[in-house]
Parts: sequence; structure tokens; C-alpha cells
Amino acid sequence: MIWNAQLYDGKHEFVSKFGEDVVSLLAPKAGETILDLGCGTGDLSFSLFSKAVHVVGIDQSASMIEEAKQKYPDISFLVEDAHDLPFEEKFDAVFSNAALHWMKKPEQVLAQVFKSLKPGGRFVAEFGAKGNVMSISRAIIGQINNYDYHQYPWFFPSIGEYSSLMEQAGFHVAFAEHFERPTRLNGADGMRNWINMFGDVVMGTQTPEERERITAGAVAELKKEWFYEDHWIADYWRIRVVGVKK
Ligand code: BEZ
Repeated sequence: MIWNAQLYDGKHEFVSKFGEDVVSLLAPKAGETILDLGCGTGDLSFSLFSKAVHVVGIDQSASMIEEAKQKYPDISFLVEDAHDLPFEEKFDAVFSNAALHWMKKPEQVLAQVFKSLKPGGRFVAEFGAKGNVMSISRAIIGQINNYDYHQYPWFFPSIGEYSSLMEQAGFHVAFAEHFERPTRLNGADGMRNWINMFGDVVMGTQTPEERERITAGAVAELKKEWFYEDHWIADYWRIRVVGVKK
């Protein structure tokens, strides 16, 4: 997946705005060393940095990291894959907002997070949960004959499933929550913009003409239920967890 960092910042800034709630759950203390896993263009890394945290932001997307470095030159940002991290007992906390649903080998990611934490360190994360963007996904997939579900790009677990995976990785699960968060997409083109930015990847190897047809069909289908005069609602569900490396 190639990200357009400017489009991401311009139209989807709500991702980091909601992330401030997860920063509160993290309760960072001055002087801590914290990894922001899947930092995107760095806004929440900056929020941590502003609280006198030594923050390292990582993302698999080179264009996101490039943008993050330009916005926040005093923060350390690295292009890294969370399935294979170069850290050993380095961090007081690993923090992640709206990123883990892109990583389809959660056992591997959790093992890497565990390894990267100091003993006593905490893992605090929020991401898409079971049921997340289900209507949008169904509307897109409904436009495609014989959809190959192997190409479905996201991992949206229940808290039962994810807590078990955390325990298998060695974490003590201190907190887990699954909740609905209807998310406003501004403007008459809000849903089309969302699909162009995020939902396009559901379509796999379709041609540009097919992508346009699928997008238009999905938007028309979704309009009946999810469009409200001047904005759309995306059917987001979140999972929030805190794990401790005892
Ligand atoms: C989410 O934050 O829930 C999300 C973002 C992009 C694609 C799918 C889900």
C-alpha cells in the first residue's frame, strides 16, 4: 500500500484527533522512552514529545515518515516494519493508534512489541475492532464478482480474540474495551474520499475503470443509510487495550 501523506493529513486528520484519547490512556510521564508504532505523519508522536517524552515514531510507509520528519524535525522517525523491530527492552511503553488493523500477523507484531519493552513496560493501543467499517466493506465487496477474501486488507479482532493473543505473547491484559465510534466524514464527497484513501485497497487488482465503477456503486449503496444532508457517517468500531510486561 502506497500512502499519499498529504491527502492523509488534509482529509483524514480525525485519525490523530481521536488519538488524543488513547494518549490519555497511555498517561505518558516526562522522561519516559516511548515507541509510537504506526505513527503516520507524526501528530501523536509530537503530542508525546510535547509532554517531555523521548519518542521514536515508526511507520512502514516511507512517504508518511518523510512527511513526519518535515513536520517535526526534532523527533526521531524511522521506516520500520512492526513485524520485525530492531529494539530490545528499549521502551517504557509502546503506543499505537489506528495502525494495528493493517498488520495481518498480529502474533508476530505482539511478540515484537513485547521484546521491545523494558520489563514492567506497557503496551497501549487502539485500532479497528470486530465490525469496523463493515457496511463500507460490504458495499465495496458487493460490487465485485467472486471476491477473493484473502485480499481483504484488515485485521479487526474482538476483545476475546485479541486479549488471548496478548496473553500468548506474554502480556498481562490490564484493560480491554470494544466500542462503537460512528465517525463523521465531512462534505458530500466524504465517503468517496474515504474510499479513495483507505477503501481502494479492498479492491485488490481491479483496473482503474473498474475501481471507479466499484466506488460509484458502493457510494450509491451507502448513501441510503449513511449520508446526512452534508456529511457521512463511517461505521467505526474500536478496540482499546493495555497490556503489561510483568
Ligand atoms: C480505521 O481507523 O478504523 C481504519 C482506517 C482505514 C482503513 C480501515 C480502518
